[in-house]
Amino acid sequence: MHTPIVPGETKVPFMEWSEQYRMHIESLDQQHQAIIALINEVQEAIQSAAAPVVVDGILRKLSAYAEEHFAYEEQCMELCQFAALTKHQCQHREMKKAIVDFQTAIALGNPAIYMDLLNFLMKWLHGHILRMDMEYVRDVRSVGIR
Ligand SMILES: [Fe+2]
Ligand SMILES: [Fe+2]
Repeated sequence: MHTPIVPGETKVPFMEWSEQYRMHIESLDQQHQAIIALINEVQEAIQSAAAPVVVDGILRKLSAYAEEHFAYEEQCMELCQFAALTKHQCQHREMKKAIVDFQTAIALGNPAIYMDLLNFLMKWLHGHILRMDMEYVRDVRSVGIR
């Protein structure tokens, strides 16, 4: 379904991809962009007052995609024997658990949680890419992964 375009109205995405997130590893940059797009889908559903079941559906998609991304990223780190792999895996696990907790709160009918959810998703991804993912770039690139 397409959102009708209203003349003069520019839609500003909730979270925007920017050069600061670029790791110069095409596969991973694309995956991060896809995660940002899914976070924006969650925000759009919330903003348009979609039913909790709809928000939950998008969260499931986000969670499934994030899981695939984390698995791929961890494989890359294993391949180059990245020293801080365990610490990094731990953060991935915490993120997955946090989404499950938000899903539980939504299922319990607590829409007040929506703002916390959006803040969490944006801050988590922003901080995680800049502080954790950037740490492995050199090692991952050194084994030829692009
Ligand atoms: Fe990561
Ligand atoms: Fe990542």
